[in-house]
Amino acid sequence: MNILVVHGPNLNLLGTREPGIYGSLTLDRINESIAALAAELGCSVSFFQSNGEGDLIDAIQKACGCCDGILINPAAYTHTSVAIRDALSAVALPVVEVHLSNIHRREEFRHHSFIAPVAVGQIAGFGAESYLLGLRALFTHIKKEIVTKA
Ligand code: DQA
Repeated sequence: MNILVVHGPNLNLLGTREPGIYGSLTLDRINESIAALAAELGCSVSFFQSNGEGDLIDAIQKACGCCDGILINPAAYTHTSVAIRDALSAVALPVVEVHLSNIHRREEFRHHSFIAPVAVGQIAGFGAESYLLGLRALFTHIKKEIVTKA
């Protein structure tokens, strides 16, 4: 099983970016803990981060045919991007949306997600742990899908 992990804009700054909200772990450290959990579960993960909407869309499109699911933190594009949502719908892979912060407790403009309606589910508010919970959830979902289709 191959899972693509996608990080949206400004997440390359984790570690120094508003640590009171996003924690003090760098993106590399978060990716290391995702890779460690993936090894434990027995799946492979690849990582992609971009600050650009088009690059994120290209990465999502490329996942078609080589990945079984997408774990995504669309960051600010969560609240604005119909194009990323359309890309996720187009590839028709199971998607789990994650956020470090609890977007529903924050400013009102963060409460709406364009991505959530095309995702299996959303996990928000657990810091870096959101990614690990999201990976477990996506892994279990894909496994169940494989059993159901067999
Ligand atoms: C975020 C929440 C978004 O509202 C914000 O724009 C981000 C990060 C999170 O992980 O908590 O960049 O996706």
